[in-house]
Amino acid sequence: MLKIIVCVSGGGTNLQAIIDGVERGTIRNTQIGGVISNNAGAYALERARKAGIPAYCISPKDYGNRQEFNDAFLKKVNSLGPDLIVLAGFLVILPEKMTQAYKDRIINIHPSLIPSFCGTGFYGLKVHEAALERGVKVTGATVHYVDEGTDTGRIIAQKAVEVLEDDTPEILQRRVMEQAEWVILPEAIDRIAAEYRVLDT
Ligand code: GRF
Repeated sequence: MLKIIVCVSGGGTNLQAIIDGVERGTIRNTQIGGVISNNAGAYALERARKAGIPAYCISPKDYGNRQEFNDAFLKKVNSLGPDLIVLAGFLVILPEKMTQAYKDRIINIHPSLIPSFCGTGFYGLKVHEAALERGVKVTGATVHYVDEGTDTGRIIAQKAVEVLEDDTPEILQRRVMEQAEWVILPEAIDRIAAEYRVLDT
């Protein structure tokens, strides 16, 4: 059984796609051990609680400096003992100690076709604003492993989405979520869990 934890910062629609996938059996051999957010007001925490999943907030506001927050965050992650960490709309730069300790065991969903519109400053709506500004006809989403860079790890899966003439950033974001993010992130977890099953035996 692959034990995952999901790190979130906002609405949690990607978390919900994972919760639904595990409940429906489209994500097999997987247990969600906990959800951690840096944002006490994240609706994603409410989604976790409704699903009976332990939900925790580790907020930078509760710590004197970045190092203390990083240490507390990593301590909580370690306490949950995950096989895989899923970043789903998580807007915090991970402590280097964490990316080293969980090398090749952290994945992220990014709302563009990496290497387009990614890296520092490209998150949430900003990604779609940049895509519309550039005038691309196709965008999409990417699931990738997390390394010490920003959106630079090995790509696991991508799915393309058409950009339409009168798209606003909000309309485009919703289409990318519905048609790409909520599809490829659960699929990626299911595939990793299947491989994990082989290691289990
Ligand atoms: C999504 O666009 C996701 O790609 C990005 O954060 C946004 C919010 O995601 N990483 P969620 O609704 O909190 O899952």
